[in-house]
Amino acid sequence: MKIPFYRPAGFSVPDYFRFYQTLRKGWLTSGPQNQRLKVLLEEYLNSSRIITLNSATSGLKLALHVKKIGKGDEVILPVNTFFSTLEVVHQAGAIPVLADIDPDTWTISTEEIRRKITQKTRAIIPVNFAGNAPDMEKIFSFAKEKQILIIYDNAHGIGDRAEQFADITVFSFYATKNITTGEGGAMIFANEEDYRKAEPLVLHGMDKKSWNRYQKSNHWKYDILDAGFKYNLPDVNAVLALSQVKYYEQNLVRRESLYKLYKTELEKFSWVRFQRDNPDFRNVHHLLPVWIENDGIRDKIMDALENAGIGYSLHFIPLYEFSFVKKKYRFLEKNFPVMREYYKNIISLPFYLDLKKSAIRKISDIFSKFDAFL
Ligand SMILES: Cc1ncc(COP(=O)(O)O)c(C=O)c1O
Repeated sequence: MKIPFYRPAGFSVPDYFRFYQTLRKGWLTSGPQNQRLKVLLEEYLNSSRIITLNSATSGLKLALHVKKIGKGDEVILPVNTFFSTLEVVHQAGAIPVLADIDPDTWTISTEEIRRKITQKTRAIIPVNFAGNAPDMEKIFSFAKEKQILIIYDNAHGIGDRAEQFADITVFSFYATKNITTGEGGAMIFANEEDYRKAEPLVLHGMDKKSWNRYQKSNHWKYDILDAGFKYNLPDVNAVLALSQVKYYEQNLVRRESLYKLYKTELEKFSWVRFQRDNPDFRNVHHLLPVWIENDGIRDKIMDALENAGIGYSLHFIPLYEFSFVKKKYRFLEKNFPVMREYYKNIISLPFYLDLKKSAIRKISDIFSKFDAFL
């Protein structure tokens, strides 16, 4: 039995039908399905200031653009994140300042943020990791005091309810995420003015969305309010998320039960450590990373999983490891002692809605072979 690392799940017959209808009707780009998705997200996230996007990366770029973060500004972000969190800061011309992670939650260390704030700090980008929000309340408390913006990279954790502490929050609907449109995302704004500024920029700065443009009289006419981007979510993608949003809470129950089984199975081993939950927010269980306490065993477990046809991954390669980052920023590994240890010991195990409980038991059996040596 092969067990892939990831499988998109949560699609049902009505989704296939709606997808087919979208193709038949021929409205492929942003249109009625986007509108539907927006309404569902507004309700789910309890926000009327939502923009759907072609990716979370686009949302992060747009957030920095709207807040005019650029040359000379410092932006603090965790070392344990996907490259796009740093990429957008770099491309805005601002200075990325990396913060080490907390040894238990594996999210950005608030102590590190406090140490790294300077006169030039314009924003912090806290990142939800694997479904767990960072300590947003604390980050909020010292950001507000110094008028520093919080742009929350919540690519992993839609539904954690931590966006209440951010100026702008970005979600990803990438293929592996809890809700997926293949590629896609969304963002929400705490502030009406930011929302009004950002909304037209998603589609070239047009004063009407293409959907309106082709529906009304004078359909050919549009104005350009500002130089924008091409960040809109096509309807062929948006349609895929409709029932996933509708049934998301139900899906989270399934995710929780898979997580609990993993815990029962793997906490039998004293050398396996799980991510500590942030008690202030809900863990929405995006990934299943575990820390293998014994030096060298992690790599042997990776080999054993590989040989058994079981997928695994690693989240994340520390940002300072990438050639580009080394060349541009010269961050020193020794300044991130927690991340350095984490990177040697972490592994992400298969985790998705239709993962079989028997698969978790099989993974546990593989782990038990290592128990004998320890
Ligand atoms: C923490 C984090 N931030 C941002 C992104 C970028 O998301 P997207 O692929 O939707 O641009 C990802 C994607 O994997 C991510 O894991």
